[in-house]
Amino acid sequence: MNKNSKRAYNFNAGPAALPLVVLEKAQAELLDFNGTGMSVMELSHRGKDYEAVHNRAIELLRELMAIPQDYEVLFLQGGASLQFSMVPMNFLAAGKKAGYVMTGSWSEKAYAEAAKLGEVFVAATAKEGNYRRIPAWEEISYGADSAYLHITSNNTIFGTEWQAFPDTGAVPLVADMSSDILSKPFAVKKFALIYAGAQKNLGPSGVTVVIIRRDFLEQANKNLPTMLCYATHAKNNSMYNTPPTFGIYMMKLMLEWVKAEGGVPAIYKRNREKAALIYDAIDASNGFYVGHAQPEARSLMNITFRLAEEELEKKFLDQAKKTGFVGLNGHRSVGGCRASSYNAVPYESCQALRDFMLAFQKENA
Ligand SMILES: Cc1ncc(COP(=O)(O)O)c(C=O)c1O
Repeated sequence: MNKNSKRAYNFNAGPAALPLVVLEKAQAELLDFNGTGMSVMELSHRGKDYEAVHNRAIELLRELMAIPQDYEVLFLQGGASLQFSMVPMNFLAAGKKAGYVMTGSWSEKAYAEAAKLGEVFVAATAKEGNYRRIPAWEEISYGADSAYLHITSNNTIFGTEWQAFPDTGAVPLVADMSSDILSKPFAVKKFALIYAGAQKNLGPSGVTVVIIRRDFLEQANKNLPTMLCYATHAKNNSMYNTPPTFGIYMMKLMLEWVKAEGGVPAIYKRNREKAALIYDAIDASNGFYVGHAQPEARSLMNITFRLAEEELEKKFLDQAKKTGFVGLNGHRSVGGCRASSYNAVPYESCQALRDFMLAFQKENA
């Protein structure tokens, strides 16, 4: 527990920490939003009060990510997991093939869903050695007529992250950015479609952001159930049906916070400083802590490491929990430890974790 604010040192992988000021603002507005005498949850999604929130969230995301005008910004439901299916439903036409770069469990899931719907191929894989790296660009192979190439920009479970994005020319590049969207500046124009569940860097769970280039959208399959067509949501400003209004409101508060903090460049700088605290503790430990990811593939968002012995690792995690650190257990599929240091995780939490790691090593080395 953080002594000053009674807030937990929250390193959860998602849903994850939200900024204190965002929660306080939501609390202050809960019973009477904007003089309506209602919470945002109770507003009609067709009324002007909610509509202003909805449109402001889109506008802020456009501004913060410098999303070009020829892209649509959609707020959907069903999580990133539904995008694993919606992408191939809309864009993997018969006779075409879609390439997947395999960098972890989420890429595997995306690939498996697409394989149910059409022809897919592995364009490159980092599975050997348990997903410790990101394939080099030269390793990735796909035909110039591929329907699209799919990547997972940050691998939440293994703690690896693409450091630069490829230029795929005429082949549409699609990315699952669930766990690193808004964490660093990058050129949206390299992508035909980006999707991300909100519950790591954008707000609470329940909203999925899709950013899609209009000319790509025009190529989508039109013979799908209405709710599964991106075009339905684009045509209706993501209000074809009732949107997750409270989640979108929370996202708007979160985006206002990012802007007030200095925008994505300032957040990126702090993310690097936060991650460096923990990676430095790992690197200076003489093998007491061992990072999972190869250094050149390290994620700024999910820092994965192990201790040399299983017993010691258990002791570390137990003691960390007692000290007030939340969410440090690695994903059940890989074990070990994982500290997720998303945008809203305060620098002080990372400092406290670094101090704890150094003290634990001193006592137990
Ligand atoms: C990279 C990535 N993709 C997809 C998902 C699945 O997201 P959802 O639970 O929103 O379906 C997650 C969840 O942790 C993730 O980290």
